Amino acid sequence: MNFELQNQCILVTGATSGIGLDIARSLAEFGAELVLFGRNRGKLAELKRELGARTLAVDITDEAAVTEAFAGIPVLDGLVNCAGISILDDVLDVKAEDLERIMTTNVTASAVVAREAARHMIEHSRQGSIVNVSSQAAMAALPGHLGYCASKAAMDAMTRVLCLELGPKGIRVNSVNPTVTLTPMAERAWADPAKREPMLAAIPLGRFATPREVALPVAFLLSPAASMISGACLPIDGGFTSH
Ligand SMILES: NC(=O)c1ccc[n+]([C@@H]2O[C@H](COP(=O)([O-])OP(=O)(O)OC[C@H]3O[C@@H](n4cnc5c(N)ncnc54)[C@H](OP(=O)(O)O)[C@@H]3O)[C@@H](O)[C@H]2O)c1
Repeated sequence: MNFELQNQCILVTGATSGIGLDIARSLAEFGAELVLFGRNRGKLAELKRELGARTLAVDITDEAAVTEAFAGIPVLDGLVNCAGISILDDVLDVKAEDLERIMTTNVTASAVVAREAARHMIEHSRQGSIVNVSSQAAMAALPGHLGYCASKAAMDAMTRVLCLELGPKGIRVNSVNPTVTLTPMAERAWADPAKREPMLAAIPLGRFATPREVALPVAFLLSPAASMISGACLPIDGGFTSH
């Protein structure tokens, strides 16, 4: 499958691990030039060698560092806002400090990255595409996920506002909303059958997603094949949110 990303320069945040890592590899396979943000310097060095990518160690919750990082990068055609965190607790045990951390990374920092990418694209007259990596948690209640569900619902709201304001500049903005995606960390987190089986039973396709199954729709949304798609929140959930 080829979504024609040759001659496109795409920034991926959260590229050092999990879904973002697979997205970076898939976009490189489709011919994109990559700029990768993460915090893990060792992993960034590996990715620079493996993918020939421009890599930058940036904590996206540091607004000044994000702004500075954008000053030195090649002209962008796309952004994948993938960096994110989850802290899980039952409602009765939720801590304000944890809610704040989730919101700071998943909402505020992602919005700052999107703002910088939009400013950069407009400044360089690029009609780009932004893909926010949201979650099925934006669309359905998941036990233990109060802060995470709220943050991803906010991310989808952000997608719609970005779509509205940036559309007239030719910039498309969409979310993808994956179900449980089998990154190494998620495989460990969902290893307990008592937790895994009820979730699997609620997914009509009866299985979790692979990172590649998230990366391919992201590549599609970045590509000219999606040229009339903006403001969409695309479930990649095997039907979980259909009922
Ligand atoms: N896995 C799932 O089941 C699933 C399902 C739906 C949606 N998602 C979403 O997909 C995205 C990736 O999840 P994942 O499972 O692949 O997670 P992961 O393996 O834990 O990777 C998270 C990535 O985000 C980066 N990151 C986190 N905080 C950051 C910060 N302050 N500054 C810069 N980078 C930061 C990490 O960078 P460093 O490691 O370099 O610090 C890492 O590259 C998240 O937005 C998550 O909410 C995941």
